[in-house]
Amino acid sequence: MASDKGMRGGLGGGDIDQIRQRVLADDGRKDERGVPIDYECATVVSSLTELSNTQFCDKGAIILPRRLDGDFNGLARRMSGDVYQGKLRGELQSSWQRNVGIAPSWLGIETVRKYAAQTEMFGQELSTILADMDYLESLGRTPLLKVYSYDYDDDTVDRPHADPYTPNYETGEHYGDRYITVYNSKVTRHARNEDAEPVASLDHIRTFRLKPGAPVGTFHNGDIWRQACGENTKVKPFIHWSATEMDDGPKLILTA
Ligand SMILES: [Fe+2]
Repeated sequence: MASDKGMRGGLGGGDIDQIRQRVLADDGRKDERGVPIDYECATVVSSLTELSNTQFCDKGAIILPRRLDGDFNGLARRMSGDVYQGKLRGELQSSWQRNVGIAPSWLGIETVRKYAAQTEMFGQELSTILADMDYLESLGRTPLLKVYSYDYDDDTVDRPHADPYTPNYETGEHYGDRYITVYNSKVTRHARNEDAEPVASLDHIRTFRLKPGAPVGTFHNGDIWRQACGENTKVKPFIHWSATEMDDGPKLILTA
């Protein structure tokens, strides 16, 4: 499909309107605080230990729903400004990282720790992020806090797709799952496997087309989830895309 640069990524205007209308609360049942306890496309768990230990079974993602306190929009604006002015910059530590050319606005745990120690504001928000990074590092992963200053305009991530493997940024090793938290701004959308048809593979990313009327789910700011990726045929791929079709400010996303 030809890219329409007037729109966000690979989705045309008609698709976008349909998707806006279709983003219903695909959250299933909720507890008394309004936190989902059931998702069509994800198994809901209630602790970080369960998040890393639960098998995918018949769903492509495991999610720990959370609501975080703090001004993460403010922190995103601050960090994005500091990246822009050259005051904050991720370090390319391993030779593998240097080869891959990780963006300077992708921050490792040491960089975030140093930043938190020097920054007077946003102590609570940075502690929350560092606690998440500590958890992911304790699993042997390399957590990266990605500071996006603008909507990325990417034909692949803006259309329904399943992710390829997650690289270990220290060793280049491949993982069949990926951890993600979006602290502010719009969060990943997802659809059921039976509501999508495969269309193409671009750079090892399998892309899909939603069937007409397919319900679309969305996770929430602060949720932390683990999604299936790679070529694991025993697990249903997690079909998802980024919600970037409307104007976005800077955003903070943690991945590992
Ligand atoms: Fe993705």
